Amino acid sequence: MVGLLIAARPVATRAQDNPPVAWAWSGAVTSNSARVVARVATGITQARLVITPERAGATSRTQPATGYARPDAHSVIAFPIANLEQATRYRYRVETPDSPGLEGRFRTYGNGPFSFRLAFASCASTASNHVVFDAIREKAPDLFVHMGDFHYLNIGRNDPDAFRRAYDRVLDSRRQSALYRATPIAYVYDDHDFGSDNADGTARSRSAATGVYRERVPHYPLVEGNDGTIQQAFSIGRVRLIITDTRAARSPVDAPIDRRTMLGAAQLAWFEGELIKARDAPLVVWINTVPWITSSNERTIEGWAPYARERTRIADHIDGLGLTSRIVMLSGDGHMAAIDDGSHSAYMSSRQDNTRGFVVAHGAPMDRWPRTKGGPYSHGVSRRNHQFGLLDVKDSGSALDVTVSARNARGDVIPGLELVLRCEKSVCAVTR
Ligand SMILES: [Fe+2]
Repeated sequence: MVGLLIAARPVATRAQDNPPVAWAWSGAVTSNSARVVARVATGITQARLVITPERAGATSRTQPATGYARPDAHSVIAFPIANLEQATRYRYRVETPDSPGLEGRFRTYGNGPFSFRLAFASCASTASNHVVFDAIREKAPDLFVHMGDFHYLNIGRNDPDAFRRAYDRVLDSRRQSALYRATPIAYVYDDHDFGSDNADGTARSRSAATGVYRERVPHYPLVEGNDGTIQQAFSIGRVRLIITDTRAARSPVDAPIDRRTMLGAAQLAWFEGELIKARDAPLVVWINTVPWITSSNERTIEGWAPYARERTRIADHIDGLGLTSRIVMLSGDGHMAAIDDGSHSAYMSSRQDNTRGFVVAHGAPMDRWPRTKGGPYSHGVSRRNHQFGLLDVKDSGSALDVTVSARNARGDVIPGLELVLRCEKSVCAVTR
């Protein structure tokens, strides 16, 4: 009954409460480092981070080591954390001299074979407080990959303050705030949280979106000198993860075909280089927000279809590296959950009728009306609201067992939408 009362309570009006620490989230987790970003209330001039390993008798340390840090002009403080122990759970607290502030947690990754769980999803109405965020949190993932439509404010102008307010609105929502403090994030925007619907690199909001992302999101190192795009690459154990930015360098969908690009020349070169570096990884997770399995037809032009030349170039590059079976693509954008085992995702120029591509999984929407995009998908499509995905990796050292599943708002597997891969000796095979 108590739980019901709590659940039925109106969303806390944080602005009225005006807590000294408004929000905090973590990201950029590696085997020995992490990053926490927090916003304090207007007028608060100092805060610090207290970090404690979650084991008996562990001692805390603070960031900075002595004293307090000052927030930026917009009340945000970033705390880079170094010298952490691998595969270790940590508790952190952002506190001010007069307040215990907010607490969160993360687990560092292991070097070498390391088993982990990752949740992935996209698309929630602005500041949604839906229980699906509790369901994701209760799965205790090591990382939550948020693939965009963090809000639907469609800020189509170069207005950094509007983007700052958007982050505040979402991070102030009670269930999302709880999730982001319980689980580190890797976030990449899609169209509605980058600009207007179907936004591309010509969006007037581009500078504000990419700039405020750098201020407020705890992200992995960005590629500097690349005109603002936010692509990132990192490792969890032996698995390599690559996030591409499919908005900030994209040319308009109707650009001349020989100049039409999804990633832009600089990011495409970076991505191809990252794939070469990852060629020996037992598994590569490519986080690509927009639908890969799409074809142009008279009714709709979705996802990668208008950029088919670049899609083929990437598929050829992956194929040439012998990586096709070892890629799992995680996607959002389409308001559906769907899994393809590679039956429909082959776009290399050498493909024939039975050529297999890589596994593609969509886990969406968290809280937005359903809509199917692209396909077909071998394991089917769940066109429902309040969904997300899980990627479980168990690494024995000699083989990886990888389970990709789509989940409903209770956290249960959506019937049919579960796939198991076994990866060993540089090949992954779908076993179920
Ligand atoms: Fe969306």
